Amino acid sequence: MRATSSTERSRLEPEPVVRRDFLGLASLLAAASALGFGLIGMLRLPRPAVMPSPSKKFKVRLPESLPLGTPFIPPGRAVALYRTGDGVYALSLVCTHLGCVVKPSGEGFECPCHGSFFGQDGAVTKGPAPKPLAWLKLTGSNGSYVVDQGSTVPQGTYWRA
Ligand code: FES
Repeated sequence: MRATSSTERSRLEPEPVVRRDFLGLASLLAAASALGFGLIGMLRLPRPAVMPSPSKKFKVRLPESLPLGTPFIPPGRAVALYRTGDGVYALSLVCTHLGCVVKPSGEGFECPCHGSFFGQDGAVTKGPAPKPLAWLKLTGSNGSYVVDQGSTVPQGTYWRA
């Protein structure tokens, strides 16, 4: 019978993994994972990261029952339309201070960002907004209108159809 020394190991009792080998293997695995996830991320790059912005021109139908002097805000748009005795006008709801969307408040609009107030005609009643809300180009008739958010008209330009 052969005597085994304490340094020899049998096949049933494998040599333990050396710590340096284990760390090397782990770092290799981590590098491969980072490379794999990086490649997956790069495959997603060609797709646009943002949705295309909606057209600046849009159609809107004013409700028949809309009372004079009451704003109508089409869903998803930062625009208010008013029907008055002088005609119809569209007001941009983008604050002239830093561009927040103003909200209806009392007789006009309030900016939630820095507290500017605007009247129904867009005039500034409380700063810090430096200019009135823009009046937008409007065309159409019989309660159906096309608003062009890319074109402004002088304040007081009513659309009569
Ligand atoms: S963005 Fe409206 S008050 Fe500043």
